[in-house]
Amino acid sequence: MAVVELRNIVKRFGRVTAVDGVSLRIGDGEFYILLGPSGCGKTTTLRIIAGLEYPDEGKVLIDGVDVTNTEPKDRDVAMVFQNYALYPHMTVYDNIAFPLMIRRKKLGLTRSEIRERVMEVAKMLRIEDLLSRKPGQLSGGQQQRVALARALVRRPKVWLMDEPLSNLDALLRGSRRS
Ligand SMILES: Nc1ncnc2c1ncn2[C@@H]1O[C@H](COP(=O)(O)OP(=O)(O)OP(=O)(O)O)[C@@H](O)[C@H]1O
Ligand SMILES: [Mg+2]
Repeated sequence: MAVVELRNIVKRFGRVTAVDGVSLRIGDGEFYILLGPSGCGKTTTLRIIAGLEYPDEGKVLIDGVDVTNTEPKDRDVAMVFQNYALYPHMTVYDNIAFPLMIRRKKLGLTRSEIRERVMEVAKMLRIEDLLSRKPGQLSGGQQQRVALARALVRRPKVWLMDEPLSNLDALLRGSRRS
């Protein structure tokens, strides 16, 4: 994991100021929650950390490196979206393996190493019995856990989750066991 710092972040959409001077520091390995009313800028703040939006003012640092203008693919940040967008035509296994399969050469992973990593996160999130199903055959909470697994399998430096509350019980159970 990594240290994430926001320094005086401002983001405007036309006349709306979505994020108004936010500064925070999230320590290495820390679990940090943004809590606030609808429209207060939580999703926008996460998108700025991921690099999906660029701030009008302020800086984003990851491990002390200024990534304010770095593209998302070069940040090693994974984000699970509010609507978790799984690939409907792929099995749960293939959905989770996908981020590793597309980077297989770059990461130097064999298919059996990918299989091991998929099985590890599937076990942690208790979806190992669902691996051959398609997303349409899962409950909402199960789909969310598949989306979490797909983000975790990359072992990113920074892991962002939008609206994760319904997953917390599964996650906490997982960490208590490990
Ligand atoms: N692309 C956009 N264009 C214009 N306005 C936007 C855009 N994205 C967000 N906003 C506005 O910015 C403000 C913050 O939105 P954001 O999605 O960050 O809120 P939020 O805290 O995640 O809310 P919620 O709890 O409802 O998900 C809102 O007023 C929203 O309407
Ligand atoms: Mg939101």
